[in-house]
Amino acid sequence: METVLTTHFADERYRFIDTYRGFGGYEALRKAISMPRDAIVEEVRKANLRGRGGAGFPAGVKWGFLPKDMSRPRVLVVNADEGEPGTFKDRRIMSRAPHLLVEGLAIACYALTIHKAYIYIRGEFVREAGILDEAVSEAYASGFLGKDILGSGFDLDVTVHRGAGAYICGEETSTLNSLEGKRGWPRLKPPFPATIGAFGLPTIVNNVETLSDVPWIITHGGERFAALGCEKNGGTRLVGVSGPVQRPGIYELPADVNLRHVIYDVAGGLRDGKKLKAVIPGGSSTPVLRADEIDVNFDIESMAKLGTMAGTSGVIVIPEGTCMVRALRVLMNFYAHESCGQCTPCREGTGWLRKVVGRIEAGEGRPRDIELILDLCDNMMGRTICALADAAAMPAQSFLWKFREEFDRHIRDRKCPYGNRF
Ligand SMILES: Cc1cc2nc3c(=O)[nH]c(=O)nc-3n(C[C@H](O)[C@H](O)[C@H](O)COP(=O)(O)O)c2cc1C
Ligand code: SF4
Repeated sequence: METVLTTHFADERYRFIDTYRGFGGYEALRKAISMPRDAIVEEVRKANLRGRGGAGFPAGVKWGFLPKDMSRPRVLVVNADEGEPGTFKDRRIMSRAPHLLVEGLAIACYALTIHKAYIYIRGEFVREAGILDEAVSEAYASGFLGKDILGSGFDLDVTVHRGAGAYICGEETSTLNSLEGKRGWPRLKPPFPATIGAFGLPTIVNNVETLSDVPWIITHGGERFAALGCEKNGGTRLVGVSGPVQRPGIYELPADVNLRHVIYDVAGGLRDGKKLKAVIPGGSSTPVLRADEIDVNFDIESMAKLGTMAGTSGVIVIPEGTCMVRALRVLMNFYAHESCGQCTPCREGTGWLRKVVGRIEAGEGRPRDIELILDLCDNMMGRTICALADAAAMPAQSFLWKFREEFDRHIRDRKCPYGNRF
C-alpha cells in the first residue's frame, strides 16, 4: 500500500529540514506556488480529504467557506490540541515529521491567501512544541516561511502557541478563545470560524493530520489520494491502537480498512491469549462496539451505519475481564472534569453521570439508576453550545445498550462481579 505520512516517521532525522528536503520535502510547496490558487483548493476537494480532528468534515469544502471579500485578513489555526483519550497520532506527526505539517500549512495558506497561521499545541506536549519551534525556525531560515516565500511575493508568518492543558480547548471555537488569551470556552455557532474566527477574522481551523496530508495531495494529485481510500473518504488514515494488544501503536491504513483486520492482523490481536470484549473505535467520545460487531469497514459512513463514529481513529481495545461499569466510570470522570461549565445540561449532566455510574460501581446503585442515566443522556444531547455533552452522553448510552446486564448485575448484587474495589 502506498503511504502518505508514515514513510516520514521511519527515521528520527526526518524532523530536521535537511533530511526532509533530501526526500523531496518542500517540493510540493514549490509546485503549489506555481499553481493558480483555486486549482490547489480543487485538488484538495478532489482528494476527498475528510478532516482528521474527529468530525470528518471535507477539508476542500471547509476552505470554500471563507468569504470571497478579501478586505479582511484571514487566519489559519492548526488544531494540535489532541486531547481525546485514545488518540496519539498528531503527536507522532509533530515529533517525527514536523515539516510535513509546516509544508502542509504553508500550502493551505498560499491557496487561501492567508498570511498568518497559528499552531495551537496542547500544553502537555512540551517536547513536541520544542520540535515544532525548531522546524518553524528552520523553515524560515530556508525561505519556506516569512517574506517572499521562494520568490513568489507571498508572505507567511507562523506562531507556535502553547495551550495550558484543557481538553475543551481542542473544540475549535474554544481553541480560538484560548488563542486570544481568553478563557477557553466554546462559542455559540453561528457565526462559524470561517466568517468570524480568531481575533474576529475569517479563520480556517484544521487538524494536524488533515494539513499534513496536503503536500502529498499536491505532489501526486487529489484523485490519486482519493483512490487510496473509499468513495467518500479519501486517502489513508493514521489509526492508533491502544489497549492490551500485541503491537499497540500508530498505523497508516486505508480509510476503509476492516476493523477486525486492524485489531487482529495489524496490531497482532490481544496479548496473553485474552479474548476481545469491546472496542471503542474512534477515541473515547465514540459509542462502544461489542466484540461481535467488528467485521466492518472503518470509514466514516460504515461506522455511522453501526451507530458509532470513526472519530479520531483512536481504537481502544477492551479485553474480557474488564468491568464495563468501571470503564464507563473512568470515562465519565474525564468528561465531568473537562466540562467547561457554561451549559447547564453539560455541567450538571456530566457531574450526575459520574456520580450515578460511580455509585453503581461501588455497589450502591438504585434500581432506577439505569433509566436515570438514559434520561440524563437524552437531556444532554444536542442541547449545548458544543459537542462535549454529546461526547459524554454517547459512550454512556452505548455502554448501557451493549452491556446492560453488567449494570443490572452490579445493582442487583450490590457489588462488582469482577471484584473491583471502588
Ligand atoms: C470537546 C471537543 C474536543 C476537540 N478536540 C480536538 C482536538 O484536540 N484536535 C482536533 O483537531 N480537533 C478537536 N476537536 C474538533 C474540532 O472542533 C474541529 O472540528 C477540528 O479541529 C477541525 O479540523 P478538521 O476539519 O481538520 O478535522 C474537538 C471537538 C470537541 C467537541
Ligand atoms: S457543552 Fe459542556 S464543554 Fe461545551 S460549552 Fe457547554 S458546558 Fe462547555
